[in-house]
Amino acid sequence: MAGTGDGSPLGLRRDAAVLIEEGRVAWVGPARYAPAAGRRIDAEGGAVLPGFVDSHAHLVFAGDRATEFAARMAGQPYTGGGIRTTVGATRAASDGTLRATVRRLVGEAMRQGTTTIEIKSGYGLTVADEARSLRIAAEVTGETTFLGAHVVPAEYAGRSDDYVGLVCGPMLAAAAPYARWVDVFCERGAFDADHARAILTVGQAAGLGVRLHANQLGPGPGVRLGVELGAASVDHCTHLSDADVEALAGSQTVATLLPGAEFSTRSPYPDARRLLDAGVTVALATDCNPGSSYTSSMPFCLALAVREMRMTPAEAVWAATAGGARALRRDDVGVLRPGARADLMILDAPSHLHLAYRPGVPLIRQVLHNGVPQCRS
Ligand code: NIG
Ligand code: FE
Repeated sequence: MAGTGDGSPLGLRRDAAVLIEEGRVAWVGPARYAPAAGRRIDAEGGAVLPGFVDSHAHLVFAGDRATEFAARMAGQPYTGGGIRTTVGATRAASDGTLRATVRRLVGEAMRQGTTTIEIKSGYGLTVADEARSLRIAAEVTGETTFLGAHVVPAEYAGRSDDYVGLVCGPMLAAAAPYARWVDVFCERGAFDADHARAILTVGQAAGLGVRLHANQLGPGPGVRLGVELGAASVDHCTHLSDADVEALAGSQTVATLLPGAEFSTRSPYPDARRLLDAGVTVALATDCNPGSSYTSSMPFCLALAVREMRMTPAEAVWAATAGGARALRRDDVGVLRPGARADLMILDAPSHLHLAYRPGVPLIRQVLHNGVPQCRS
């Protein structure tokens, strides 16, 4: 599959070849016209797709919350309150422990086809712990996001204005050198619209792009605030009003859906069809984190989107590749066309349909990142 071709949203091509030079796609076309190349990889009938762009992940943490998951599966609701448990474990962890977890999860994601990943801070919530989270994330990706406003930490209970002051001042100053984006968990029980606006505005003034956790657990002002501030993406979008959908449809803001979170919290899935039918650009991402969605698997999220959210397989593949790229305001990833990064995967299957059709099956035979083969299974 490549950039243009048969007019379908994916631009499917058969019997195609991709020429890679210096880590970039140099040419895409019919295999019989392929220019000479030093080294050839035969896809052996397997579909070739752009690598997944996972535009939403929280990989810098310590410990896990398996017992919280078990309690939820026994009927407990998800409230986000467990974030503070992970904050405690993360603060207590060494740099080496955090780094090992980040690298393990990035490797796990890569083996499942992810070649671009966004990583947020948000489990440190002190000046030093947020800065080190981002420093460690920046070792493995350029797409780093400052999420000091994940929750109000226990030591600031009842003093959320003071905590927001810390986030907007010394914490942002320490985090900004390692961050490309600023994010806020705008939700009842986390940060309200006034606090979110204050944090996002100073983040923007410091040169960071805006993204937002919005409308995950209930309706609220987050999505419209994100659109108003020109956010690249508003993420979750599970509880939307007509006005939210209208605002998104008339904007450049992507709606990033995270079905792993609804799966792992046993919550209703977002209405992807309503967004797509309104003309909203939709991305899919994992939300990989130890609380609400402990999966690094884009193929799993894609299968959920098709089965549970009524996206077509083509829409879901687009949302997991080109859509993720839009959510990160990138035009060099998520597509296979000349000039793009040579980030791609070869499937052990003849078409993209198999990603949803064969859920849970390891179909990613080979991944190339910047033209370099990453793994073979
Ligand atoms: O995107 N919603 C806020 N943050 C994460 C959950 C984090 C956690 O539960 O540890 C999310 O779902
Ligand atoms: Fe998240």
